[in-house]
Amino acid sequence: MHRIIDLPKVTDPRGNLSFIEQLRHVPFEIRRVYWIYDVPGGFDRGEHAYKQNQEFIVALSGSFDVVLDDGTDRTVYQLNRSYKGLYVPAGMWRRMTNFSTNSLALVLASTDYDEADYIMDYQEFRQWRAEHEERV
Ligand code: TYD
Repeated sequence: MHRIIDLPKVTDPRGNLSFIEQLRHVPFEIRRVYWIYDVPGGFDRGEHAYKQNQEFIVALSGSFDVVLDDGTDRTVYQLNRSYKGLYVPAGMWRRMTNFSTNSLALVLASTDYDEADYIMDYQEFRQWRAEHEERV
C-alpha cells in the first residue's frame, strides 16, 4: 500500500543528515535512481502508471504533490521534507504536480528503465487494473 515512510534524521549543529537503505527504509531492492529538477511553474511530470516498477519519492529540496490513483480512490501526498519519502507500489496511476521553484525530486526505482512497463493512457490503466486486481 502507498504510504509515507519516515527516514532517519541525524540532527547536528553542523547540519542534518538522512539516509536510505534498501529493504530497510524502502521495501524493495534499488535498481535505478533518477531525479527531476528545473520544472517550470505550472508543469506536471510522471502522469502514467507502471506495471512492475515500484518507486520511492523524496523531495530533497522544495515541495511538490504526488497524486496517486488506484483506479477507484485518489490520494494526494504533499512532499516537502527531505527526511520523508513516499512509497508507490506498482500498478498506481501517478502524477507529480505543484512543483515549487527549485524543487528537486529524488526517485528510487525497483526496475531498469523499460518503456514497455509504462501505461500512458488512463482508460487503458483502468482496464489493466480490472484484469490484474487480484495481483496488485
Ligand atoms: P518519463 O518517465 O516518461 O517522465 P515523465 O512521465 O515525467 O515525462 O521519462 C522522460 C524521458 O526520460 C523518457 O524519454 C525516458 C527517459 N528516461 C530514461 O531514459 N531513464 C529513466 O530512468 C527515466 C525515468 C526516464
